[in-house]
Amino acid sequence: MRGALGLQFATLIHFLLCCNALPRMQMEFAIQHTWDSNPVNHDPMKIIFSPGEGGLKIAASGPFFNDPAAPAAPPSQPFPGLWDYEVVESFFLDNTTENYLEVELCPHGQHLILLLSGVGQAFLQQLPMVFNTKISGDRWTGEALVPWSYFPPNINKMNSYAIHGSGEKRMYEALYPIPKEQIEEGQQPNFHRLEYFQDFRLQSIMGENWVQPGSDLWIGKP
Ligand SMILES: *[C@@H]1O[C@H](CO)[C@@H](O)[C@H](O)[C@H]1NC(C)=O
Repeated sequence: MRGALGLQFATLIHFLLCCNALPRMQMEFAIQHTWDSNPVNHDPMKIIFSPGEGGLKIAASGPFFNDPAAPAAPPSQPFPGLWDYEVVESFFLDNTTENYLEVELCPHGQHLILLLSGVGQAFLQQLPMVFNTKISGDRWTGEALVPWSYFPPNINKMNSYAIHGSGEKRMYEALYPIPKEQIEEGQQPNFHRLEYFQDFRLQSIMGENWVQPGSDLWIGKP
């Protein structure tokens, strides 16, 4: 009797472990346009989101331009003003509160996290993160683990970007660019145009039953 119960219990545990993991999946995106909706003139930057240990894994891969040169700082560290270098960026937004998380990744290994509430209003930045990169010739790959506590609750929108080049040749690229007909004369790239972000839910990666862990960092934000 006791033995049979034990077996049932083991089967139940196995079922929970196996089937809890099932709905998890990765989402892959390619940044194919400039911020103002022209096709990019190179192999696009790719970004893959997938479940990580205690957070979201972001894997970036694509061409390495080596322009501008590396920030003067060690890899795996936060670097203020990283947006002036070669970077890939992902923004995760709740468009009802304008709470959002900005994650910037540099092929040379530096990173920058910003927590914002209101357009361009960063209230925390340079948070630590596990991030490793590898440059192989004219390509690079990087993998970051973004802790759940950095994400605002109820994310429903996302956009991602890539920047490289210097001076006149500086290129600003967007996953969800501004449609051509909406570009005004003299308009400059601005990655905080939240109205152009598109639908995105962490549950699409983590499973419909997944509940985002609460975070002290967002207490007091709308
Ligand atoms: C937020 O996104 C929803 C769904 O796309 C849209 O209907 C709504 O207008 C957006 N709200 C704001 C404040 O932009």
